Amino acid sequence: MDLQEFLHMNEGDGELSYSQNSFVQKGVSLMGQPMLESAIQSIITEVKSPSKVIKVADMGCGVGPVPLAVVSLVIQNVQKKCKELKWEENEMPEIIVFLNDLPSNDFNLLFKELLKMELLKRKDGVPLCYLMTTPGSYYGRLFPKNVLHFVHANYSLHWLSQAPPGLYSEEGMPINKGNIYISKTSPKIVAKAYLAQFQQDLTKFLKCRSEEVYSKGRMLLTFRGRPVSSDASTWQPWELQILALAITHLVSQGLINESKLDAFDFPYYGASKDEIESIVQEEGSFKIENVNTTAQHVAHEMEDNVERAKIISKFTRSFTESLISRHFGEDVVELLYQKFTQLMCEHLSNGESAEHHNIIILLKRS
Ligand SMILES: C[S@@+](CC[C@H](N)C(=O)[O-])C[C@H]1O[C@@H](n2cnc3c(N)ncnc32)[C@H](O)[C@@H]1O
Repeated sequence: MDLQEFLHMNEGDGELSYSQNSFVQKGVSLMGQPMLESAIQSIITEVKSPSKVIKVADMGCGVGPVPLAVVSLVIQNVQKKCKELKWEENEMPEIIVFLNDLPSNDFNLLFKELLKMELLKRKDGVPLCYLMTTPGSYYGRLFPKNVLHFVHANYSLHWLSQAPPGLYSEEGMPINKGNIYISKTSPKIVAKAYLAQFQQDLTKFLKCRSEEVYSKGRMLLTFRGRPVSSDASTWQPWELQILALAITHLVSQGLINESKLDAFDFPYYGASKDEIESIVQEEGSFKIENVNTTAQHVAHEMEDNVERAKIISKFTRSFTESLISRHFGEDVVELLYQKFTQLMCEHLSNGESAEHHNIIILLKRS
């Protein structure tokens, strides 16, 4: 399937929408906030000449609280640094934020939300900020050479450009039968195929951005990764493990054809910090300024497992539904996520983890 054509987070602002259910992504972006602030402030110091236009891109911006926070933080930090540098108000740089995502992202809602922001209204002492959309895949060129000062990508680069082709034999037969990602029952070659696709994609991303980011520009990238102690050949995120169990259940009920399950490979890779660092170093265009790993228990404030499972199910549905309904058909979606909620509740009741491991990395163009 051509992922770029139809992958999207759930649209709108209803109960099952991405914008109402991206609390995990918001939490991760908050963890990266100090690095974002230091990057913007360093950029303002380094561009030296006042009145320049600062160009920022949010790659895989999606919709909801994160792109809103990115726009506000950029404006606030440009303003703060200009004050510190005692630049006159008429010397304050103007800002352009390019909001990038695949064409099926809900850009209409994003702009409706953004245009309500007070900071975007013309006011004395606040730098003027212009917003633009740049639809398209960040695994290709999106901007002219040397234009960007800062690139931000929160929780987007663990999405692969495609399911790894190495998951099929030469005869075109699926080799990861019964699974939707790397699992304990996967042949060893499966983890290798996923890593190879991730290496290829991240390298392409870095190469494209190395053309577009100016000589001292920065990039702040956050990934949903895997814990340091994990075994790369078997580790899978708990959501995908439970999603696979729910699909298997529907197969056993005769509601999904087994061959459909065998042919579904989730286009995600949970990288380790070392894997990301070594890809950056090998590609060579960016230097690592800072890197941090964090962990986050999803919806841990909820004591009732039934309620917590419902929240986690809506969260998971908000970013997986477009792929699931496209591959398995819209008619099974409701049942599938009902089963997911039940299995999630059992998972939590057994004391199993619902943790996200994140890698936050700040890069400088070298
Ligand atoms: C989990 S969402 C993160 C959205 C937002 N950055 C946030 O933190 O809430 C991942 C986003 O990456 C986008 N995405 C995935 N692959 C992409 C690609 N190749 N090019 C551009 N955007 C992509 C998805 O459409 C989605 O909006």
